[in-house]
Amino acid sequence: MEWIALKHALLAHLPVATGLLLPWALFASQRAGRGIRPWWTVCRYLGWVGLLGLLAALVSGAGAGRLLALIPAGRIFPLPASGLGADAQLFRHALIATTAGILAVPALWSMNRARKDHQSLGLLALLFGLLWSGALLATGYSGYGLAHPRRPVIVLPTSAKVAEVPPTPVDPEAQAPLRALDYAALEALHAEPVKSPAHGGRWIRAWANATAASAYRAGRALPPGALVVLSSVEDRWGRPGTEPGPLYALEMKGETPTLTFYWPQVPVDRRRETGGEARAYWRGENAHLDACRACHASGMADPAQRSRWRVPRVRAIPAN
Ligand code: HEC
Repeated sequence: MEWIALKHALLAHLPVATGLLLPWALFASQRAGRGIRPWWTVCRYLGWVGLLGLLAALVSGAGAGRLLALIPAGRIFPLPASGLGADAQLFRHALIATTAGILAVPALWSMNRARKDHQSLGLLALLFGLLWSGALLATGYSGYGLAHPRRPVIVLPTSAKVAEVPPTPVDPEAQAPLRALDYAALEALHAEPVKSPAHGGRWIRAWANATAASAYRAGRALPPGALVVLSSVEDRWGRPGTEPGPLYALEMKGETPTLTFYWPQVPVDRRRETGGEARAYWRGENAHLDACRACHASGMADPAQRSRWRVPRVRAIPAN
């Protein structure tokens, strides 16, 4: 079924070819007299081939319409739902195709009538044959319109128009916090990870931009434009593990601090922390950040609270 339905475009070429070829043969067979029989045969051959092609196209067309969900289940004919538009175009195509199917009957009957050897194929055959050919071509034409929708004409804006249209503001950080993700380009404030109970007991490293670095080290309020990012890894047996944790970012936009929390892939056993979400990107006024504000109400956390716990150094005891 699917195989036939998807061949509709291919099968539809046969009846269209009939529509193009049959009129010439019909005109040629209008001459009465000896030696006209071969032209009857040509007409009849084209007629039967055209009919077979048309039947195949009708079946595959209805199949394709169903497959592409253009025709609702339980129907074989696409009635337009409402108004005009794409489905009206499909309806027209199906209507013309059906007309061609009906016209095939008188056309084939008139072409296959018994004739005397010296007679022409007859005006009736010419009339019905031409009508049928016209319907076949119209079907092909409307089908082409369906398969190749006309593109809207592109109007090049004049320079005056360009000036009128204000650029639409796009938020480059809508999908991910780009500046925070680039933390490794910032200045490292921790040479090695420290364990931070305030941030889920993860091992963190802080990174700051040039504006923030010296103020952060001195524990002074961060100036406008400051950006501090915490990168983190999960704890594993009391040491920094291999699983990456979330990114925490603090940016001073003027005097107001903005916090960001970004965890691109939350492990299944940690989704409690994100309310079940597999990915967390909280920023701005996100309610999840309210918990952070307990310690970050004015931006930077109290420097006295900073974590200092590092991985203890184990001195190698010389073996002797
Ligand atoms: C219990 C208090 C507390 C909570 C809650 C908390 N933090 Fe922190 N935060 C700190 C402390 C203390 C530091 C200093 C680094 C350290 O020792 O962990 C810090 C550091 C930071 C920093 C680096 C800049 C700075 O202030 O030192 C960022 C960014 C940050 N936290 C973001 C967050 C975000 C986002 C949340 C919420 C998901 C959060 N924090 C929740 C206490 C907290």
